[in-house]
This record gives sequence, structure tokens and C-alpha cells, in this order.
Amino acid sequence: MQLFSGSTNLPLARKITGILDIPLGITQITEFPNRETRVWVTEERIHKDVAVVQSFSGDPNKAIVEFCLLVDALRRSGAKTITAVVPWMGYSIQDKIFRQGEPLSSRVVADIIQSVRPDRIITVDLHNEAIQGFFSVPFTHLTAVPLFLERFKKLTIDCVVAPDVGALKETTKIASQLGLPIVILNKQRDLHTGEVRIIGSKGDIEGKTALIMDDFISTGGTIIQAADFLKTQGVQKVIMGASHHLFVAGVQEKLAKSALDELYITDTVAMPEADKAFHGQLPTHVVSVAELIAQELKD
Ligand code: R5P
Repeated sequence: MQLFSGSTNLPLARKITGILDIPLGITQITEFPNRETRVWVTEERIHKDVAVVQSFSGDPNKAIVEFCLLVDALRRSGAKTITAVVPWMGYSIQDKIFRQGEPLSSRVVADIIQSVRPDRIITVDLHNEAIQGFFSVPFTHLTAVPLFLERFKKLTIDCVVAPDVGALKETTKIASQLGLPIVILNKQRDLHTGEVRIIGSKGDIEGKTALIMDDFISTGGTIIQAADFLKTQGVQKVIMGASHHLFVAGVQEKLAKSALDELYITDTVAMPEADKAFHGQLPTHVVSVAELIAQELKD
């Protein structure tokens, strides 16, 4: 097998090739003067099974186009099979139609990426596991939760907090595996402004160390409001685990200034160099999914 990468998560692609001891295919990804994406797979003939690693992060629209052009170029270069490794499935947040006149965007994106006929798709911690139903090709849905649990079992944690009822299912799984009680927060998000408010909780939290697990961090609004609320309720320490940190501009700095004490994330989305500067203020631990994905590619 040979692995190729789009431009959004080269560090993860390099970790995977290192584990599998396979070459990282050479591609040139540039732009034409009119800003159209330009892809060139420099190897002329590729009579191998290939995998393409691309998170739909950063500029998700550009990332999706890059992915499609790269898969098409590999197909035309003779690749035998093409496995799409999409650690962060962008647009998976838009998995529902909230208002008349809205698209079902996660379905549209599923159709777009299937239009270049990947033979298989591998992703990590979908925002909604039902999104797998939007795909008609073999689809592997990996989860980073066991990797987090390995870390959390070594920590002193008193309770697991669900930031909203949507997170209750995942939180319950984690709480039961850690043998800890659950606290549920009542979160409200303004559909127009995106602003988040936490207005209540259920569970004993005074003086505790609380763990909040969520699938992703985008604006940081949920975790910042939740951490602030928990501290006002007497919680001593707030630790957060999130599979995907989308590194929206300025969010890591906001998290560093918030009531959050420690952050565990994965490397499904590449961490911008500038954000590493805040690790002194907010201890941030990266749990890599490289081994998880490499094992899946081996099977
Ligand atoms: C909600 O469904 C998500 O799982 C997160 O709780 C939340 O939406 C993350 O977004 P943000 O960081 O913007 O609050």
C-alpha cells in the first residue's frame, strides 16, 4: 500500500506512514492564479492499493475539493483500490435540517466525496453515527474513546459531565467504563448567534474534579460556558476530552483564559504552530489516532 496526503493533516499522515513503514506518495498541491486548486501526483504509474489522508478541516470547502481531485488523479494514475482516510468528517455537524429552506449538508458532502468513487472510507468519532447511512461504500467508523479512557483511568476524576443532553449517550459510556457518576448540564444555544448558555445541572459536584467529554470543539463556547458554570457551582478542577479540536482561529487562546484546567484532544485535526504557545496556560495533551488508523489500514 502507498499513502498519499492532502494538505490539511500532513503530520498525521507522516505518523501513519512511519507506523506502517510505507512511503508517503509525492503530490504537489498548489493553486492556479484564479485560486482553483491544482493537484499533481508526480509518480506516473501507481499499480498499488493506496490510501488518501485528508481531514475536512481548516478551510473545509477547499479540503473537500483537494481530496476529490487527489482521489481522481490517483484513479487515473492506475491505483488499484483507494481508501479514503477522513479523520475529521467536515460538515458532519450539519446532519439535521433545522429550518425550512436548509440543505441536508452532511448528505450533500457524502455524495460529493462518493462521486470520485473511493473504494472504502475510514473516519473517527462522527458527530452523529447515523451519518454512516449516507454512504454506500464500505465505511469504518473508528473511535478515540478507548484511547482517552487509558489516560483518564490514571487521573483522579470524581464525575463525568455531559455538556448537553446530546452528549449524554457518549458520556454515559465513558462514565460507566470509569465507574463514575454523571452530571448533566442544561445547555441552550441561540440558533442565530451560536451563543451558548448553561442554565443548570443535575448531580453532586461541590469540590469535585469533573471530566467533560465531547466529540468536538469549534468556537469553544460549550466548554467555556460549562467550565465557568461548574466552577461557580464549586467544582475544583475541570478537565475536557474532545476527539476533534477544529482550531477555529483564536479559540485555543480563549480556552487558555477560561476556567478549563486541562485539555485532552486527538490529532484528527492538525494543531497550528501558533496554538502550541498556549500550552503553558492550558496543559493540552494530544492523544494520537495514528496507530488506530494504521491498524485499520493493515487489516
Ligand atoms: C454539540 O452538538 C457538539 O457536540 C459540541 O457540544 C459543541 O457544539 C461544540 O461546539 P462549540 O465549541 O462551538 O461550542
